[in-house]
Amino acid sequence: MITREEALKAAESAAAAYNAEGTITFRDVVVKDRNVSLTVIGAAASAERALEAALREALAAAGAETVHCRFRAGEAAAAGAQGAARAAGAAGGAEQAAPPQKGQGPVRGHGAGLEAHPLLSAGSGVQFIAVASGKGGVGKSTVTVNLAVALARKGKRVGIIDADIYGFSVPDMMGIEDRPQIVNERVIPIEKFGVRVMSMGFFVEDNAPIVWRGPMLGKMLRNFFAEIEWGELDYMLLDLPPGTGDVALDVHQLIPHSKEIIVTTPHATAAFVAARAGAMAIKTEHEILGIIENMSYYVSKSGEQEYVFGRGGGARLAESLNSELLAQIPLGAPDNHISEPDFAPSVYKEDTDTGKLYLEIAESVIGKCEA
Ligand SMILES: Nc1ncnc2c1ncn2[C@@H]1O[C@H](COP(=O)(O)OP(=O)(O)O)[C@@H](O)[C@H]1O
Ligand SMILES: [Mg+2]
Repeated sequence: MITREEALKAAESAAAAYNAEGTITFRDVVVKDRNVSLTVIGAAASAERALEAALREALAAAGAETVHCRFRAGEAAAAGAQGAARAAGAAGGAEQAAPPQKGQGPVRGHGAGLEAHPLLSAGSGVQFIAVASGKGGVGKSTVTVNLAVALARKGKRVGIIDADIYGFSVPDMMGIEDRPQIVNERVIPIEKFGVRVMSMGFFVEDNAPIVWRGPMLGKMLRNFFAEIEWGELDYMLLDLPPGTGDVALDVHQLIPHSKEIIVTTPHATAAFVAARAGAMAIKTEHEILGIIENMSYYVSKSGEQEYVFGRGGGARLAESLNSELLAQIPLGAPDNHISEPDFAPSVYKEDTDTGKLYLEIAESVIGKCEA
């Protein structure tokens, strides 16, 4: 075992020989199991390679198995980038609905340096899973929410970013009525069913429509990572807007190691449209964990499966994307009642047929991600 303090101490002593001018500092030191990731600020470019070797050696001696170093320029360069961020922010609309800003927060213009954010760095140990679809209304948010809850039921630490910033629905689906608290200028996600949730819906008054302009969209998404106190997570699910637009593209670029699940209905045209989302995942080299076919069949009173929306869309899509059909979810809605404690309109209970299906999906996802 190596603690964060031990890692920092080892890094500082290894850097001492390169730090005659006292410019080197460390940031975003994250230790997960025996994997260490850290950002080195203010090292001379000419010394980076030797310093990295020294850091690796010192951290290995302190007990680290893998070491992930990033190098960033010091104060002067960073100040320039922050100015750009403020300019980008000022250009956006709908500021009043934005999550609270941290004065000197880590968000910089157009995500510059955000890859150094502990959550987003490849060494963070967080599995990102983007849930995508070709079009809206196929059940993408329903799947995101239920898969997240199922992963939490399996003991995983899970977050959801409701990245469908025009069509956010995660808070309602999960029956979340609270609004996030702000502690030490950081926004604390709302936790329900063991899942930490962040959504644009938390920052919109009375369901008023919001009009986002291009630059603001990207900034929102970045804020969802940088300004939020996520804590330790094993899985972060992203409920993407339908299609292959700006936000989807942003996610692809921001989280290159993100994996994907594609949701479709069984209908041939739906699967055809979903294939475009799949093509985008392939083009951006995101691993497709699998396809979930939703609204696959209706279970009649006599217990028979009736394929009211056609058949085979999910399987064909899986085949064309060289992926796997993870599950077929039947038509229906959770039999939850508003009078129950913890009522959530769209979250299936663990012991229901569909709830069990989601647990099976969670198992496959865990198997694929943690193999
Ligand atoms: N398996 C299902 N059977 C019946 N209705 C469903 C099913 N899955 C989702 N729905 C409903 O369909 C609508 C669209 O689902 P949603 O998850 O919001 O889709 P998306 O996020 O793709 O737009 C919602 O009203 C949702 O409750
Ligand atoms: Mg949705």
